[in-house]
Amino acid sequence: MARTIVITGGTNGIGKALARHYTELGDQVVAVGSSEEGGRRLREEVPNAQFVRADLSSLRQTRDLIERLSTEHPVIDALVLAAFRFNAVRVETDEGFEHTFALYVINRWLMAEGLRDPLEKAPIPVIINLCGAGQGGKIQWNDLQLKDKYRGLTATMQGAAASELLGMAYSSERTKYVLYNPVFVATGLHEPFKQPLRGLVQVASAVFAQPVAKAVPPLAALIDHPPAKPLTTWKKGKPIDLAVDRNEARRFEETIRTVTQSALP
Ligand SMILES: NC(=O)c1ccc[n+]([C@@H]2O[C@H](COP(=O)([O-])OP(=O)(O)OC[C@H]3O[C@@H](n4cnc5c(N)ncnc54)[C@H](OP(=O)(O)O)[C@@H]3O)[C@@H](O)[C@H]2O)c1
Repeated sequence: MARTIVITGGTNGIGKALARHYTELGDQVVAVGSSEEGGRRLREEVPNAQFVRADLSSLRQTRDLIERLSTEHPVIDALVLAAFRFNAVRVETDEGFEHTFALYVINRWLMAEGLRDPLEKAPIPVIINLCGAGQGGKIQWNDLQLKDKYRGLTATMQGAAASELLGMAYSSERTKYVLYNPVFVATGLHEPFKQPLRGLVQVASAVFAQPVAKAVPPLAALIDHPPAKPLTTWKKGKPIDLAVDRNEARRFEETIRTVTQSALP
């Protein structure tokens, strides 16, 4: 039977490669991205995927998307969280959040929580959070919005640490939560940077990064046969042990719940 796979960031890179893989198998794929350009590219390259345009750094648009997906897809077999953008300088969203925090942290929590019901109705539901798990990221507890000292890498590492904590805090009898770090995949990682860094990242990517098609099989294996444990962490297809503090996870989830509720009354 055809499955329903929702992929945020499904219009480029690893998300788009997964969209192609599953539409070729006859599954129903919903790929979410923020730009019409990404949607056009998806329609050309993966015509059987459904494109939904939403800016997932917006909490309101995320809420609307969740409502729409829950109505149109009462059963969701897999939720792949892959929407990401590296911000070299601090960007604040209209709702007052640092952009990386809104997209990489709040959006992922909202999607996982908001789509709980359709996921629980699937035979073997799974959430795949594509992130930098296991890289030693830290939560900047004193300045979550990085107002005082912004660095793109600090924001990215905080997002990775947040994924680990939110994965730990997610509780479900049925839906498995998978943190997946693809490590270095050639997807256009150089694009956000200015020269000369842009050229350096492009060369490093050409030499060291894995082609995007190679990143798909280990991810597809986890979607097709989710692990038995509620939370597992993987780096480039191999399971890793990750020590995540349960108390910090609870505290962090509570913080996200509170900031979200105040922004989305
Ligand atoms: N590639 C790697 O080496 C690597 C390494 C470690 C972790 N990861 C993780 O793997 C995931 C996928 O990485 P990737 O390299 O494949 O990504 P990518 O090629 O840069 O694609 C990012 C996707 O996110 C979408 N997106 C960006 N901002 C958005 C927004 N505000 N709202 C909705 N969609 C948005 C983009 O579409 P639009 O531009 O149209 O919005 C695009 O579809 C990311 O979470 C990343 O952190 C990747």
